[in-house]
Amino acid sequence: MENVTVYLGVATVVISVYALWFYLLSRRLTGPRVLPLVGSLPFLIANRSRIHDWMADNLRSSGGTYQTCTIMIPFVAKKQGFYTVTCHPKNLEHILRTRFDNYPKGPMWRTAFHDLLGQGIFNSDGETWLMQRKTAALEFTTRTLRQAMARWVNQTIKNRLWIILDRAVRDSKPVDLQDLFLRLTFDNICGLTFGKDPETLSPELPENPFAVAFDTATEATLQRLLYPSFLWRVQNIVGIGSEKRLKNSLQVVEDYMTEAIRARTKSPSDDLLSRFLKKRDVDGNSIPKEVLQRIALNFVLAGRDTSSVALSWFFWLVMNHPQVEEKIVREISTVLRETRGDDRRKWTEEPLVFDEADRLVYLKAALAETLRLYPSVPQDFKYVVEDDVMPDGTYVPRGSTVTYSIYAIGRMKSIWGKDCLEFRPDRWLSADGDRFEPPKDGYKFVAFNAGPRTCLGKDLAYLQMKSVASAILLRYRLCPVPGHRVQQKMSLTLFMKNGLRVFLRPRPHELLHA
Ligand code: HEM
Ligand SMILES: *[C@@H]1O[C@H](CO)[C@@H](O)[C@H](O)[C@H]1NC(C)=O
Ligand SMILES: *[C@@H]1O[C@H](CO)[C@@H](O)[C@H](O)[C@H]1NC(C)=O
Repeated sequence: MENVTVYLGVATVVISVYALWFYLLSRRLTGPRVLPLVGSLPFLIANRSRIHDWMADNLRSSGGTYQTCTIMIPFVAKKQGFYTVTCHPKNLEHILRTRFDNYPKGPMWRTAFHDLLGQGIFNSDGETWLMQRKTAALEFTTRTLRQAMARWVNQTIKNRLWIILDRAVRDSKPVDLQDLFLRLTFDNICGLTFGKDPETLSPELPENPFAVAFDTATEATLQRLLYPSFLWRVQNIVGIGSEKRLKNSLQVVEDYMTEAIRARTKSPSDDLLSRFLKKRDVDGNSIPKEVLQRIALNFVLAGRDTSSVALSWFFWLVMNHPQVEEKIVREISTVLRETRGDDRRKWTEEPLVFDEADRLVYLKAALAETLRLYPSVPQDFKYVVEDDVMPDGTYVPRGSTVTYSIYAIGRMKSIWGKDCLEFRPDRWLSADGDRFEPPKDGYKFVAFNAGPRTCLGKDLAYLQMKSVASAILLRYRLCPVPGHRVQQKMSLTLFMKNGLRVFLRPRPHELLHA
């Protein structure tokens, strides 16, 4: 009897203390509702298939920044479950530029990606990152690299993409554009990085062991970020599940890279790997082979999925906005009439050359508008090194994570105006419509990141996307496969879950008019 009283007493005290603690912490949280013990986790899970829209909803109701917790247990909550989400342009400028040093990728991200990316540019902070950034930045501004990209894109379009699409027209079969784009950009980035085109885009649509291994490795790496870290560490030691797949696929990736490096050492060319092979430090030493491998792999990761998902959303938007399509085709026609003359057959015989692509401002606006609504990297994470207060007054404790939703920025009325959900390329053009004019007040478009870690491949990506977009729109008209549902996939990249299945018809030459 006495025992029961004691137990009840203790329980009452524990529950009261917990309730008080819960009340005090949740009062400071500004995001979605939190429940005892599990915090906002059930809502996160319930909303996982619309995760970016859920974040955007939360951001809208909290005015641009919120803080939440996925574990409501004393001592653990602040360390493991607490995070800040923002899409406030002033905060973004603060994180990405002004206090750049206080917001690195951080240890969690680096550990998760370490086995795949090593200390490559994508996955490092501080000195290691800065050194590679400087070297790479020099390479990315050269004209020869742009020309190399133009050449790889040109070849894949002419020798393979058009052949595959012509066949689909002839057989009246649908194609999955996203799959074709993933293959195309993979081939291009491999060509650009190590001068070898794996031809994953070819009429038989073959499986490529390197591409498959690379995908498996990135997926397994994502698992590490999504679930508590002890889970993957145990799997890793025992050698099961996604950790086993990661290990196997890393071996394939490594073998492929070793071979690529051997080939380049024998016959250097104008690819990135050859350029890095030539580098010497102050003592005249070249970069070690293992490091080179990682450097190259980082470029492949950076430049592949991003452009292909952007192209997929672009075509989906354009299919649903015929007046935009019409304007794009008219713009390309105007340029080609000037560069290739009146014979319209010449317009569709060869892909664009660099100078032609350069003149397509409306097309660039439509691509930027696509990335505003469907940024290929929908959210990103930063680690807080020292306690800080962000410009909107939010206090962020050291050791916590700040997530910034690039997806939500484009969908806030307070940032992009009442028509923020509309696909309207014109908002990117100067008043006379002649020039591409990104917004002047900085950090409201960060699809290519901003500040010292801005995407190095932005111009190459626009060049590639313009070439592919024109190559398709000039020759074909597209319509969605009836019943096909376009949905977002929950992943670090904004893939379409079921791909983008379309039927193609030839575009008659009479419809090309300047
Ligand atoms: C539509 C296409 C693309 C988009 C939307 C895009 C977006 C981004 C974003 C958001 C980042 C920052 C990632 C982070 O720090 O977490 C980034 C970094 C980077 N991107 Fe891109 N990217 C695109 C295409 C490319 C291409 C084609 C290349 C290479 C040829 C490339 C090379 C890089 C590199 C090297 C970095 C790392 C920069 C650094 O950490 O200093 N990107 N990109
Ligand atoms: C999504 O989250 C909200 C709270 O933010 C919750 O009310 C709702 O039930 C969740 N589930 C779905 C499927 O939307
Ligand atoms: C594109 O490729 C064709 C041959 O396939 C070549 O004649 C043309 O010069 C190339 N253009 C560019 C910009 O590389």
